[in-house]
Amino acid sequence: METVRLGILGMGTVASGLINIIEFNNSKITGTLNKELSVSKVLVKSLDKKRNVNLPQEVYTTDPYEVINDENSHIIVELIGGINPAFEYIKAALNNKKHVVTANKALIATHGEELEELAEKNQVKLMYEASVAGGIPIINTMTDNLCSNEITSIIGIINGTTNYILTQMTENGLEYEQAVKNAQALGFAEADPSSDVEGDDAAYKLTILSTIAFGQRINVKDVPKEGITKISKEDISYAKELGYNIKLLASASRDGNEIELRVHPAFVPENHPLSTVKNEYNAVYLKGNAVGELMLYGKGAGSLPTGSAVLGDVINIVKAVSAASSLSPKKENRYVVANKAYKQYYIRFEVIDKPGVLAHIANIFGKNDISLASVVQRQKNGDETAPLVFITHEAPRSKIDAALAEIKNYEKVTKIASIIMVENFK
Ligand code: HSE
Repeated sequence: METVRLGILGMGTVASGLINIIEFNNSKITGTLNKELSVSKVLVKSLDKKRNVNLPQEVYTTDPYEVINDENSHIIVELIGGINPAFEYIKAALNNKKHVVTANKALIATHGEELEELAEKNQVKLMYEASVAGGIPIINTMTDNLCSNEITSIIGIINGTTNYILTQMTENGLEYEQAVKNAQALGFAEADPSSDVEGDDAAYKLTILSTIAFGQRINVKDVPKEGITKISKEDISYAKELGYNIKLLASASRDGNEIELRVHPAFVPENHPLSTVKNEYNAVYLKGNAVGELMLYGKGAGSLPTGSAVLGDVINIVKAVSAASSLSPKKENRYVVANKAYKQYYIRFEVIDKPGVLAHIANIFGKNDISLASVVQRQKNGDETAPLVFITHEAPRSKIDAALAEIKNYEKVTKIASIIMVENFK
């Protein structure tokens, strides 16, 4: 039986998941492909470290070019992450006419175009299913199964760390800082959690998803992002009271010739399927003009789930079921990237608790053409102020900002404490 050999760059969590799946699902894989899969070279940082995979010592090397230039390897799997030196390694592998599979979201979101062109020029495949939402097969679902659909919207919970933090704040009443510490203790959050909590990780993933969904190259700089660092226990509690959960959403939608993209915390109605996505789990909810609504749910990170996504790409390459054109469809500038943010908004104020204050604020919203959907006022804060919470009907963010600029100057408002978008899935 013919053998397909992999060269692997990096020997972290995902690589060990990949190697272990190749071993324990060997008969399933061999039966599917009618070929053996084997690992011929693996780039490691140190040759002495003990590893939880079953490979002979001679496959390990500390020289990346021993992997990239290995004549025995057919497919190079890049699992070191980050832009450099992964970018150089992948370019070298493609120029060596090796197929490449990568899980590198930052690299694909920023240099995907150049790498896809290089793959095409060298008539090899470049696949990156594992770069978005770990084990969830969202990229191949969009490029293959849904390729006959025009995708009109994608709303994803595609960062497990922030979903874990928000779930813990919601379900166990934890403060943000404590929830981050718990996420770090469980290995969900890095020692420096900023890429997750500030929304960068989700923005990279959304860039990749929307490039595929809209068939147009999206730049990560076109994705406005807001993380979860300002979400307070108070906002979580008002959300619950009003029938919502706060989630970090990555959303992309199309209206006529405009598309809008953003990563932002949002109120999600508690009866929407995305509200049921808890802790480290991810989900992508999308609408296609033929398939209708669809939601894929699963583990967005971890050794075996992400290894499973990498191996899916490897197997697709070996089967070569898809023509290169469907793996990297042409990207054309069909849409204008807009930023109207025409949505409902939750706005929490701290105000002096005196007659006429609520009416005055409501009047400013009215003057700015913003209709109010609900108002909640709680007891005083223990001083002369009280929290006052509004949920607006849909309005463009520019009008909300204009109203807030006026409200900010009203002397009875001591603080505009939060503004969070409400996702009503229209
Ligand atoms: N840090 C990511 C997350 C996983 O929390 O979902 C890798 O993309």
